[in-house]
Amino acid sequence: MAIERIVDTSAPAEDPVEEALEVTLRPKKFSDYIGQERLKANVKLAIDAAIKRGEPVDHVLLYGPPGLGKTTMASVIANEMGAAIRITAGPAIERAGDLASILTNLAEGDILFIDEIHRLSRTVEEVLYSAMEDFKLDIVIGKGPAARSVRLDLPKFTVIGATTRTGSLAAPLRDRFGLIHRHEFYTTDEIARIIQRSATILGVTIAPEAASNLATRARLTPRIANRLLKRVRDYADVNGDGIIDTVIAEKALTLLEVDSLGLDPADRQLLLAIIDNYNGGPVGLSTIAALTGDEISTIEDFYEPYLLQIGFLERTPRGRKVTHKARRHLERPQTEN
Ligand SMILES: Nc1ncnc2c1ncn2[C@@H]1O[C@H](COP(=O)(O)OP(=O)(O)O)[C@@H](O)[C@H]1O
Ligand SMILES: [Mg+2]
Repeated sequence: MAIERIVDTSAPAEDPVEEALEVTLRPKKFSDYIGQERLKANVKLAIDAAIKRGEPVDHVLLYGPPGLGKTTMASVIANEMGAAIRITAGPAIERAGDLASILTNLAEGDILFIDEIHRLSRTVEEVLYSAMEDFKLDIVIGKGPAARSVRLDLPKFTVIGATTRTGSLAAPLRDRFGLIHRHEFYTTDEIARIIQRSATILGVTIAPEAASNLATRARLTPRIANRLLKRVRDYADVNGDGIIDTVIAEKALTLLEVDSLGLDPADRQLLLAIIDNYNGGPVGLSTIAALTGDEISTIEDFYEPYLLQIGFLERTPRGRKVTHKARRHLERPQTEN
């Protein structure tokens, strides 16, 4: 069974303490939102244009690995526009009627945030098309031969969709978005700035070198950066005077078993298993899933993107391969076969 990992990028659905931390640390304005400069520039332009035309802003699709700030960006956009935001998720909208009731309750200029938008059913998706394009809602009233279709006008609103995978989003839905942005992994410098910002909000002092040390281990992901900061702060409170210097940070991180590149024991175990049992691959995703005890989708959405990003795993037509770079890091050089 999969164990809980500190490098898990999934949103803290069940942990109220962690959930509260995320809310506290969530940027509210563009000026607090670090990085993703191209997205910010494009959204600002779209907002200005919309205000000038007196219309709601274009629909926005945000995609990319979890923990990179998609949900945060949606709320920042709402704030910057002074718009109300209604938050829902693909799996929560089961029938066309569920969507219809959400849509008919929107007011002019509202933002509808649909997380995991790739998980909408086809029938719900079809209702969404005409709502997004013409602000019309087609509903069928009655049953059998007496059934008739009516067309309702909807207020002009903005959909912000978020997904970890665009590949599984139907092309007609994708085409309805005026702005499509892929959230990329952050640079280590940006993560260090995010850590400093979070430290200020939490009222902790962290030395710049300690922030950099944390940043290299945060898998280029704000959600993990904040989580590491919290754990290191706890360590500093218990074992020091609350100030996070390099010594405290190093000790805490060693205890957390997150290495210099943000790999945890499960990552190392997985990579070593592929090296030792499959000569480094290629291995299929199902093999990887069997090795870790995770779902294939968990590997694809949560763990693999970072390993691909740092060049430790490589996608080939026959599966995933462990690279030389990973072998060097794990001190398992390539052997002749
Ligand atoms: N650009 C950013 N600047 C500062 N903090 C960020 C940024 N992006 C994300 N965060 C922090 O990371 C956490 C996770 O972001 P979130 O928007 O929930 O990610 P996603 O929706 O992509 O999974 C948020 O609580 C927020 O504090
Ligand atoms: Mg999210």
